[in-house]
This record gives sequence, C-alpha cells and structure tokens, in this order.
Amino acid sequence: MPSAGLFITFEGIDGAGKSTHIAGLADAFRAAGRMVVLTREPGGTPLAEKLRDLVLNDAMDPLSEALLMFAARRDHLQQVIEPALRRGEVVLCDRFTDATFAYQGSGRGFDLDVLRQLEQWVQARPDGEPLRQPDLTVWFDLPPVVAAQRLAAARSPDRFESQPQAFFERVAAGYAARMTQAPARFARIASDQPKEQVWQQVHTAVAQRGWLKGGAA
Ligand code: TYD
Repeated sequence: MPSAGLFITFEGIDGAGKSTHIAGLADAFRAAGRMVVLTREPGGTPLAEKLRDLVLNDAMDPLSEALLMFAARRDHLQQVIEPALRRGEVVLCDRFTDATFAYQGSGRGFDLDVLRQLEQWVQARPDGEPLRQPDLTVWFDLPPVVAAQRLAAARSPDRFESQPQAFFERVAAGYAARMTQAPARFARIASDQPKEQVWQQVHTAVAQRGWLKGGAA
C-alpha cells in the first residue's frame, strides 16, 4: 500500500529558528525513503511568490493583507500541496494558516471571524471531505525578547520583522490560542535552547507519531 501523504507546517515568530530544523527533517524523511516537498508561505508557486513580494514589502490595509495571504495559499494548495499529498509525498511547509491568525489576527488585530471564513473557503476540499489542515504543526515557541536579539544580529527586516516587540508578544499569544483550539495538531517546541536540543524535540515530535520509521536521527 502506498504511503499516505503527510502535511507538516512550521510556525513561530520571526527569529524563532525554523529553517535549519525544516532542512533537518527533510533529510530525515528522505533517509526513511520518503519523497519530500519543501515549500513556504506566503509563496511556493510563481503566482504566490509574486504575492509574497507585494505583501512583505508594500504598505496595505489589513483586509488586503489577509486576502493576499489567502489568495497565495489557495494557489499553493491547488498547484503544489494537494497534488503532492495525492502522490503520497511529505510536504514540509514553512508557515501556513496559523501564521495568518497569529500575524494578521492577533498581531494586527484583524477580525478573526473573517479569517475563519477565509480559512473555510480556501482550505475546502471536494466531495464533503474535511477542511485541509496540517497533519502536524511544529510551533517554535521562543520569547519575543530572545527572538529580537537574534534578528538584530541577522538581516535587514521586512514589514513584519521591523515591528516592535509588543507586536511579537501578540503574535506569540495568537499561536498559543491556535494551539489551544487544536492541541492534537500541534507540537510546541521550547526553542530557547541550544540547537541540538531543539532538534531533538522536533525529531521526537515527528518520530513518536510513527512517521520516521527506519529513519536516522
Ligand atoms: P518568513 O517565513 O519568516 O520568511 P523569511 O525567513 O524569509 O523572513 O517570513 C514571512 C513573513 O510573513 C513573516 O514575518 C510572517 C509573515 N506572514 C504573515 O504575516 N501571515 C501569513 O499568513 C504568513 C504565511 C506569513
């Protein structure tokens, strides 16, 4: 029987340190014999990458921002995520809808009911199948003050990264609220630790679901 597709998303405030662990998990899945699609939001298709460029760099009102995030997501789901899951592949996606609830909802204060409605439309699947949601969301939980120190050393900020720490306090609270609403979907990773220990938590979260059988740590 072919493997079922797996949809795993990665979340956290800017500076939480997702990237190296996403790459590590991709290697672990490949070592276990799985095909892996590495992708990100906003982005992941030519159209969605254009939308990413706009939404991360151009000023706009909160509804436009939310609509563009979900427009990018719709294209990404249709062109990349759903086809890969149908082929039984592992989709590792750097951010997804939880980021919209955390950044546009909690961070910007945009209406959560509107976001819930957009989520229903954009993640709908045919034939009465349940809404498309990640099989697992790995949430890198890091105190915003620590993330700010890491980011300050790193790179020139985009529209979100340049927000004050209070914004990231709200974003972090938004992630915590999303986890409360769907606890079984989330793995909270205590990310204020050395990289190796963070990696062990990530690996364990996936392995204990039985998805890395035969894979190397
Ligand atoms: P990020 O994924 O951190 O990429 P990079 O490491 O290249 O900066 O950046 C994407 C930014 O977009 C991040 O600040 C969060 C923001 N974002 C939203 O505000 N809403 C969303 O729905 C998504 C997917 C991302």
